[in-house]
Amino acid sequence: MSRVLLAAPRGYCAGVERAIVTVEEALRRFGPPVYVRKQIVHNTYVVGELTGRGAVFVEELDEVPDGALVVFSAHGVSPAVKEEARRRGLRTIDATCPLVTKVHKEAARLAQAGHEIVLIGHAEHEEVEGTLGEAPGRIHVVDPARPGEVTATGSGPVSWLSQTTLAVNETMRAVADLRGRFPHLSDPPSDDICYASQNRQEAITRIAPECELVIVVGSANSSNSRRLVEVALSAGADAAYLVDRAADADERWLDGVRTVGVSSGASAPERLVQELLGWLAAHGYADVEQVTLTEETLTFSLPPELRSTRNPG
Ligand code: F3S
Repeated sequence: MSRVLLAAPRGYCAGVERAIVTVEEALRRFGPPVYVRKQIVHNTYVVGELTGRGAVFVEELDEVPDGALVVFSAHGVSPAVKEEARRRGLRTIDATCPLVTKVHKEAARLAQAGHEIVLIGHAEHEEVEGTLGEAPGRIHVVDPARPGEVTATGSGPVSWLSQTTLAVNETMRAVADLRGRFPHLSDPPSDDICYASQNRQEAITRIAPECELVIVVGSANSSNSRRLVEVALSAGADAAYLVDRAADADERWLDGVRTVGVSSGASAPERLVQELLGWLAAHGYADVEQVTLTEETLTFSLPPELRSTRNPG
């Protein structure tokens, strides 16, 4: 009999929830347009929906008119961007996820203490760009799949930090490799890979061995969603795909498949998962069993600019 195993936790994390509500609340309180530097979260549907409500997504601050209100995305910004906004007199609201801010603070502290920092992450990702800006010249980015390419000299103390949305296993392998090169490598005080990335990876690891096919709902530029596809494959799924929406799923994937696993990245709305479940039901996979690894209760309060009645300055 055909069935679906639905991983939980999946979908929105506390940082994404907060970032989306930040833009919604800014639109409600200050009216459109609300400019947003970069995609508020890496999801095409969310960005489209907020655009329809008056958010204007830009790549850089030079696209924001003087005096306008701009929200910084969940992935964080470098101090140089904040400084530019101050210089331009822009009104700002910072929706950086507090767990990304924690890594920024750690990078600044380590650089101050004279450490070389090896930042395990994807160089092109906005989160990594933002963290790099905390300690220009002291951070060496290394791809988790290629730790041998590290450029740190090791002539003084060396510490590692990581992007928040990496695959846990791959990161630990990279750290072991780095420790072989830098025996006195210091660990971060606590894990940088966030609770949401870890929980979604563990949940998909639980269901993947029983699935011939795993479908992850999420956008192609979402780091944590892409990791879920990789983790599903390494945990034993025969095939795994990332789809933005049900319309991107291909019925040929279902050939000979008895059990389909479903999950979603931390920036993907639940309604898109329900849409995919509808598509699967229409193709004979109406029997859905949710497999819950753990309950998540963490929430983050809104940025201070939205907690006071003051106009953001
Ligand atoms: Fe924050 Fe992790 Fe979500 S870093 S934005 S809680 S994926």
